[in-house]
Amino acid sequence: MSEAIAYERVGEIAVLKAQNPPVNALGIEVRKGLLAGIERAEVEGAKAVLIYGAGRTYFAGADIREFGKPPQAPYLPGLCSRIEASPLIVVSALHGTALGGGLEVALASHYRIAVPSARMGLPEVNLGILPGAGGTQRLPRLAGTEAALEMITSGRHVSAAEALEKGIIDKIEDGDPRGIGLAYVQELLQMGALRRAVGEMRAPEAVDFDAAYTATLKKGRGQLSSATAVRAVQAAAEAESFEAGLKRERALFMELMESDQRQGLIHAFFSERAVSKLPELEGIAPREVASMGVIGGGTMGAGIATAALLAGLPVVLIEMTDDATAAARGRIEGNLKGALKRGKITEAQYDQLTGYGLTVSTDYAALSQADLVVEAVFEDMGVKREVFGKLDTHCKPGAVLATNTSYLDVDEIAASISRPQEVIGLHFFSPAHVMKLLEVVVAKDTAPEVLATGFALGKRLKKVAVRSGICDGFIGNRIMNAYRKAAEYLVLDGASPYQVDAVVTGFGFPMGPFAMGDLAGLDINWAARKRRAPARDPRERVPRFYEMLCEGGDFGQKTGKGFYIYEEGTRGGVPNPQVAGLIARDQEEQDVTPREFPDAEVLRRYMCAMVNEAAKVVGEGIARRPLDVDMVMLFGYGFPRFWGGPLKWADLQGLDDILADIRAYAAEDDFFWQPAPLLEQLVADGKTFDDLNKGG
Ligand code: 3HC
Ligand code: NAI
Repeated sequence: MSEAIAYERVGEIAVLKAQNPPVNALGIEVRKGLLAGIERAEVEGAKAVLIYGAGRTYFAGADIREFGKPPQAPYLPGLCSRIEASPLIVVSALHGTALGGGLEVALASHYRIAVPSARMGLPEVNLGILPGAGGTQRLPRLAGTEAALEMITSGRHVSAAEALEKGIIDKIEDGDPRGIGLAYVQELLQMGALRRAVGEMRAPEAVDFDAAYTATLKKGRGQLSSATAVRAVQAAAEAESFEAGLKRERALFMELMESDQRQGLIHAFFSERAVSKLPELEGIAPREVASMGVIGGGTMGAGIATAALLAGLPVVLIEMTDDATAAARGRIEGNLKGALKRGKITEAQYDQLTGYGLTVSTDYAALSQADLVVEAVFEDMGVKREVFGKLDTHCKPGAVLATNTSYLDVDEIAASISRPQEVIGLHFFSPAHVMKLLEVVVAKDTAPEVLATGFALGKRLKKVAVRSGICDGFIGNRIMNAYRKAAEYLVLDGASPYQVDAVVTGFGFPMGPFAMGDLAGLDINWAARKRRAPARDPRERVPRFYEMLCEGGDFGQKTGKGFYIYEEGTRGGVPNPQVAGLIARDQEEQDVTPREFPDAEVLRRYMCAMVNEAAKVVGEGIARRPLDVDMVMLFGYGFPRFWGGPLKWADLQGLDDILADIRAYAAEDDFFWQPAPLLEQLVADGKTFDDLNKGG
């Protein structure tokens, strides 16, 4: 008998207990054990079989680490069919998370019972595949086509209560899975219940599958897995037989398994978990953070305070004047009202968070007990240094002092006070209570426990925390500045901003760079350009149309006009007709003859600029691993998850081709298109970015 499945007899019942920690993934040993267990139960003359999981969960799915390797028998689809075909009564008792192949094993069982806290779902589309062991055929037979389509295309987990209501499970009972499972099997046997195979149930009703396919593809911005899953559910309704439906599901599953998007999404799955695990932090305990201070209650300060409050941390917020503290409180209350409206918190929690949880003050002495303080005042070194001076005076020893600066040198801030070892950058993204990314910026003297505390805070706030070294813009904004520049060069040379935005959204970003500029406020970038202008290298090409737009007072959404015009009450904008004239003027003044760019070249240049800068960021050690960059771009900049991140995308395209294109672009502008040494090295060695992720 396999060690991954323990076999036990309790009277007439054969009990199969999965023991494959941490999540009872259905790896080869588990599959073998389940098959052997069913066969043995039948041979031994048991009347029923109970399947459940030891530890924290029922099966959480197929073993993702086996994907991309040659599959080994017994395969999961066949195993599910075998379970369903058993003449014995097979019951699954669910707890924890019954996901993917896990739920498919449960659906192949004849009856399902769950503890109230169990959750279940078919999240395969999030890994770039679709349920491949009968899930797309059995779920609609139980829950109906519409409900199954919704669950399968979104990958959403449902609660036991919702699953019961949808007919996915038969019963909910409090207790441990073995206990409730055995009681249920005994009850079924006493009732003389019959074997009940979902695959033998009537096919579900057909719906407009073409419309569902198109809507799903659009919603996923081109993610193939969810849309393809619609076709698999279609087969449940339309195929001649259950077996024919299974066959179709299998074919579509295999097609997705071979796709680049599957590789991208699996990379994202593992990288998301690996990114916050730093070898340098092993064995280093974070300091306890029981209360937080926030300095500045503008856009970022209010968002950071909201995130802390939602994570149960009391906050003391400091502003400059009484009016400003009132305004900050108003912003935070507004954010929390949004959380209340979306059902994230209750009225009582809202009252508690805005009452006891939040203190606003103009007096820095109020910070005396704060364990960690995040500064989010104006982006100005003088102001930041003044604030840190006050923190040095008022904060208790051991308090972590963090800055949310976007571009300023954290070392310079740290050096200005008496305890530089306590200083760290915690770079949140706007809106800070929504965006998942947190760049944890390590300064020269930052103590290891302070770094560990930054990561622990990130986890507590449910952020994806990524370590960054110090440079202009840290990981994300530095890379963004490079690809935004590439976009501006494209426009200066003849592409339109609207073509660029359309190509970029077509790739899967929620927004293109020009629409994004309008959203963030063109004046912010304008100010940064002015700040950098004196230090600019004379070889750098400088498009001027951006400034021209700002000089006319058009800052984007906040003024109603930028690259787009925003009408009150409409969503999104329409192209601003004045922009073409400004670009033409810029081209004339710079003696540029505009040319046409095919969409594919627009995308290639945009992506090559992103990859090249990302490779520099890794090569210089600002990001430790390529996957760190990938996670920054995914969680902070809307990079489409199904490509895994820019460096995963680059691996999939072939690094030699990317380098060749960068070199070709350098023939026109060898200042901007300087190949990253790391990229050149990888190509020379025949390696990929992923080799570096794996320590190669
Ligand atoms: N296969 C292999 N390893 C898995 C795994 C899986 N299906 N699910 C989780 N793990 C690993 C994680 O990588 C992690 O490993 P680490 O400790 O080395 O980093 C460990 O198990 C614990 O996972 P989490 O840190 O994510 O633990 P949580 O408690 O936060 O979450 C979970 C648990 C909800 C089960 C979450 O891990 C999850 O969502 N897993 C993926 C579930 C899934 O997508 N299943 C479908 C698989 S595809 C499939 O079944 C195909 C079939 O249709 C044929
Ligand atoms: P903001 O202008 O909205 O807010 C700044 C707030 O700080 C104002 O309310 C101001 O009254 C207050 N303030 C200024 N000096 C102060 C002092 N000495 N003591 C107490 N309060 C003081 O600015 P925003 O956008 O919130 O940015 C704050 C910081 O966050 C900046 O460093 C910025 O670079 C950074 N950042 C901004 C992002 C954004 O998207 N807006 C994203 C990530 C970081």
